[in-house]
Amino acid sequence: NKHCPLQGNIAIIGFMGTGKTTVSSALSKITGLKEIDVDAYIVEKAKMSISEIFEKYGEEYFRNLETESLREIANNKNQIISCGGGAVLKDENVDILKNSGTIVLLTATPETIFDRVKDHTHRPILNNDMSLSHVKSLMEKREPRYQSVADIKVNVDSNDRILTCYDMLCKL
Ligand code: S3P
Repeated sequence: NKHCPLQGNIAIIGFMGTGKTTVSSALSKITGLKEIDVDAYIVEKAKMSISEIFEKYGEEYFRNLETESLREIANNKNQIISCGGGAVLKDENVDILKNSGTIVLLTATPETIFDRVKDHTHRPILNNDMSLSHVKSLMEKREPRYQSVADIKVNVDSNDRILTCYDMLCKL
């Protein structure tokens, strides 16, 4: 693990429930790079939970906080940046992440995702309709975007996702 030539920041992106946080923590441990969770950064900045931000101020306000946070975070280098699932929907955010390093996309089938998120209540985007069909249609809408901004893609349907991800980073 000392031979992995990581450059700049590594941004982990992908749909909710792909395991961005898990993969980021593992990569951080393996590489010794600092891990930054964008949602956690926003929560600290706003002194409110993500759900509260959506409830009180709406999605647009959250998205503005997200861009502001990404900008601040990307000022530092050599970090694993664990992004929220919607972080790359804006061109501006993609530019910030691309300019600061490498974008790694985690992918999984809607079934895998649904299984991972179905019992959770902290995601405003899914809260009003927690069903496989809603997950599927949202994923279909977002998938082309995720695919087009990613430098590296890692399928995480199986459990060896952390090693796979690390292997792929080492091939950069
Ligand atoms: C969102 C994903 C969430 C969080 C917010 C919006 C999205 O992050 O940023 O609820 O639009 O996909 P996770 O992907 O970590 O759940």
